Amino acid sequence: MHLTLRQLNIFQAVATHSSYTRAAEELHLTQPAVSMQIKQLEDNIGLALFEQLGKSLFLTEAGEELLGYCERISQQLRDAEDVFDSMKTLSTGKLNITVASTANYFAARLLASFSQQHPDIKLSLKVTNRENLLKDLKSNGCDLAIMGKPPEELELNATVFMENPLVVVAPVNHPLCQETNIPLSRIAREPMVVREQGSGTRFSIERFFHNHGLSLIVAAEMSASEAIKQAVSAGLSLGIVSSHTIELELEANRLKVLDVENMPIIRHWYLVHRKEKKLSPIAIAFRDYLLRVAPDL
Ligand code: PGA
Repeated sequence: MHLTLRQLNIFQAVATHSSYTRAAEELHLTQPAVSMQIKQLEDNIGLALFEQLGKSLFLTEAGEELLGYCERISQQLRDAEDVFDSMKTLSTGKLNITVASTANYFAARLLASFSQQHPDIKLSLKVTNRENLLKDLKSNGCDLAIMGKPPEELELNATVFMENPLVVVAPVNHPLCQETNIPLSRIAREPMVVREQGSGTRFSIERFFHNHGLSLIVAAEMSASEAIKQAVSAGLSLGIVSSHTIELELEANRLKVLDVENMPIIRHWYLVHRKEKKLSPIAIAFRDYLLRVAPDL
């Protein structure tokens, strides 16, 4: 069936007025134009929609059916219009954000305060490592992402908004806690608990050691900063994590940051989306919010 919304509008007007002439007046069309559209509609459907009995125009059974569908379609279009209006005024909508695991330490707080301002939007937060996050961006799986420096070969829009310093942490009773300006070569002799392959943090640590002509001795690799912190404070070995992840442990004196030469490794957090992505009004609002509050994070 090939029919157009315009034909359905004309049909609805004729049905409501039971008259081709009055429908034509309402729609600012000529009466033959209206008759022609109805004729095309009837040819398309393969059934008569109206019958003229004397001076009166009646709907046929097929016409009654079509009128029911037209009313439902009109209602659906009105509903869609309401949804678009509330999307424009940010009172509704969906926001899908993917963040690198390390960024979750501030991203969840950020989303919570944003959603207080927009209580009716649906938020979805996916937390994963850099490798999976890049897959998500490639498959259009998120509106926005928060991650370390994105690779240049992807067509992305990336805005840097905050530093992400990586530090060496030790259990509070570790002998190196007493030392200052510890040579990196000394640290490189210690086994480390680090993030898994595929993590941006892991990649940066390896590149940093490599650039200083050193390599990393991996005591254990773990897929969450939380696990690394537990392992280090329990005395497994030293560890390297983002300083954003250890606020509570430093306060509670469960971990110490070592004073190592050339450290912290300074990385940055980026807000990222695909270049050709059409950001929804709510995604734009979140991007603006994040960039506005970033200095206070
Ligand atoms: P990750 O995050 O170490 O949790 O993967 C940092 C990044 O995106 O580089």
